[in-house]
Amino acid sequence: MNRPEITLILARAANGVIGADGRMAWHLPADLRRFKQLTMGRPMIMGRKTFDSLPAILEGRRHIVLTRDRDWQDEGAEPVATIEEALKLANAPHVMVIGGAEIYRLFLPLADRIELTEVALEPGGDAAIDYPATADWREIAREDHPADEAGRPAYSFVTMTRK
Ligand SMILES: NC(=O)c1ccc[n+]([C@@H]2O[C@H](COP(=O)([O-])OP(=O)(O)OC[C@H]3O[C@@H](n4cnc5c(N)ncnc54)[C@H](OP(=O)(O)O)[C@@H]3O)[C@@H](O)[C@H]2O)c1
Repeated sequence: MNRPEITLILARAANGVIGADGRMAWHLPADLRRFKQLTMGRPMIMGRKTFDSLPAILEGRRHIVLTRDRDWQDEGAEPVATIEEALKLANAPHVMVIGGAEIYRLFLPLADRIELTEVALEPGGDAAIDYPATADWREIAREDHPADEAGRPAYSFVTMTRK
C-alpha cells in the first residue's frame, strides 16, 4: 500500500506546552468535540504515555501505540515499535497522529497536515513542542474563539498543510 495521508492533531498552549503530569493543562470541550469529529473512523497512532493518559478507549477508532517495550500490552491497544510498523498495521488511506510530544516530533517530517488548536494560556508543563515552522507549513484555515465567561481561554482551530 502507498503511504497514507498523515495528519497530526494537537492542542498547544502559547508557550508550547501540550501536557502536564500526563494530562492536558486545560479543559476545552469544543476542542474535545473537534478531536472526536476529526479522528472518528480513522486509525490513531500515539505514544505509550499518551495511551496511558487516556481515561478510556475511544470508541470507533483504533489505538496503535508506539513503545520500545516488546512485552508491553494493554486492552484495546495495538503495540508497535517503529513508524513503519505503525503505518503498515494501520493499513488505511488516512491516519491521525494524536501525540504526545515525542511522537509528534517523530512523525513531523512525514506529516501532510496539522490540525492545531492554539490555546491562549501559558501553563506549566513537562511536554512541549515547537510551533510548526512557517518555512514548511502553510496555514489554510483558521477559526478564532474568544475567552468565555466560564473562564475558558481563547483558542483557535488552525489547519496547516505542508508547503
Ligand atoms: N495537547 C495535546 O494535543 C496532547 C495530545 C497528546 C498527549 N498530550 C500530552 O502529552 C504528554 C505525553 O507526551 P510525551 O511526549 O511525554 O509521551 P508520548 O509521546 O505520548 O509517548 C512517549 C513514549 O512513546 C514511545 N516512543 C517514543 N519514541 C519512540 C520510538 N522512536 N520508537 C518506539 N517507541 C517510541 C516510548 O514508549 P515506552 O516508554 O513504552 O517505550 C515513549 O516513552 C501527556 O501529558 C499528554 O497529556 C497532549
